[in-house]
Amino acid sequence: MTSVAVADRPRRLSDLPGPPGLPLLGNSLQIQPERFHLQLEDWSRTHGDPYRLRLGTRRLLVVADPAAIAAALRDRPAVINRTERLVRGATELGFGGVFASNGEDWRRQRSMVMAAFDPGHIKSYFPSLVHITQRFQRRWQRAVDTGAAIDLGADLMRYTVDAIAGLAFGADINTLESDDEVIQQHLDKIFPALGRRLQAFFPYWRYVKLPADRRLDRHVAALREAVQGFIAQARARLAAEPARRAAPANLIEAMIVARDSPASGLGDRDVAGNVLTMLLAGEDTTANTLSWMVYLLSRHPAALARARDEVRAVLGDDRVPTRLEQLAALDYVEACAHETMRLKPVAPLLVMQAARATVVAGVALPAGGLMVFLSRAGSMDARHFAQPEAFEPARWLKPTGPQAGGGVAAPGSAKRVSMPFGAGPRICPGRYLALLEMKMAMAMLLGSFEIESVATPDGGPARERMAFTMSPVGLKLRLRARSDPAAGPGDRP
Ligand code: HEM
Repeated sequence: MTSVAVADRPRRLSDLPGPPGLPLLGNSLQIQPERFHLQLEDWSRTHGDPYRLRLGTRRLLVVADPAAIAAALRDRPAVINRTERLVRGATELGFGGVFASNGEDWRRQRSMVMAAFDPGHIKSYFPSLVHITQRFQRRWQRAVDTGAAIDLGADLMRYTVDAIAGLAFGADINTLESDDEVIQQHLDKIFPALGRRLQAFFPYWRYVKLPADRRLDRHVAALREAVQGFIAQARARLAAEPARRAAPANLIEAMIVARDSPASGLGDRDVAGNVLTMLLAGEDTTANTLSWMVYLLSRHPAALARARDEVRAVLGDDRVPTRLEQLAALDYVEACAHETMRLKPVAPLLVMQAARATVVAGVALPAGGLMVFLSRAGSMDARHFAQPEAFEPARWLKPTGPQAGGGVAAPGSAKRVSMPFGAGPRICPGRYLALLEMKMAMAMLLGSFEIESVATPDGGPARERMAFTMSPVGLKLRLRARSDPAAGPGDRP
């Protein structure tokens, strides 16, 4: 089975063009970790698609063509996998779970995790999300009252971690109303550390610990303790109400029930690994996408006005959505989310490894061969999106799918080109929850406040920083009270 049908004989990796490098080191010294994705995208424009890259002894195939990427992503888990480095690195940091496993191991964990994301479950969780969003509104109202600038990324992470803890663990951790040491202070360290380790020339930390590695160990230990706490609470609920075992109320309960069944093949480590996976996968990605959305809207007043008008018309007297139907009616806000993820995908690189010899993008790879997929390249191609550099949410509106306006391949095809959540059997299981959270947060923001400014550290365009996920650097948000107070009290604090 090959990843793409090729009429000609597949090319060899060594025949491809690519950036010239040094003996032994290859292209390693040309890459700054925080700009890794930008460098790879830049080389794709210079050397064409696909091209080859060398990082020390590792040779990688870099692919930009969305059709070839989608075909390869569909070829999982039999032919294409997450890399051994990722699996080992994530497991060392305590989140071996559905994200960082392969083959049969992955299949078992995936079906267990998917149970938590079924629409019925998300619906039953909606009242808690409303509650969390109201807290979020109160936090930002305090910033308005005191005239404080908001650390946008940090506040959004409080929101997303509270949301995922509620959904996945049935736990109300309420970091939004706490200024004490919160779980994010530990979570924040894990993805950047994993990002650094994945790019490291040599895994020195397995042999000697530098002060930074010892600090990281302390964060990992603190998280392990928090995770054990969630598991203990869930076990206590199951013991107190044995009937819950037949209908677990959330992911953690479902995992414990699955783990306890004799034939599961799952252990305590799997439960703990997936608990941490949910926290990590659900926090950064959603918060960073929201940060980018607030930033892009602040720079596009017409789109901001349209989104705000839509929210205020849908919410009526409410300041925070209280019914799922209200969210369903926020088509333009959802289009803003899709357009944000097209321009600023928080996972712009997907790195994979061949489980066995295969052909990807017309290039033969041996078993163990490495590949990097540039998920933004197709989204920035004028053959797929008219004026690809422009922030134009309306292109995502129904009924015609992405609106042509010249240059769009075909209605509906845009979602196959822009793949912010990946594709194939390992597509992000949290994507509907993420969209729900993002629409909730944006509706709260636009329904309750006016955006006064979103400032970057140097006053220029927001810089992209890669630390496993890609975020904007140092955004400060200033809000003021909503300027049309006539709408009524709603659920104002
Ligand atoms: C805007 C928000 C999000 C984005 C852009 C995003 C993006 C992604 C991407 C690109 C992948 C890799 C997909 C692939 O390999 O094809 C992924 C996997 C995953 N995501 Fe998300 N994600 C988001 C939110 C969430 C949330 C809220 C959760 C859960 C709480 C979540 C849980 C996961 C998990 C568990 C995986 C691993 C799936 C597997 O390997 O089978 N994500 N996500």
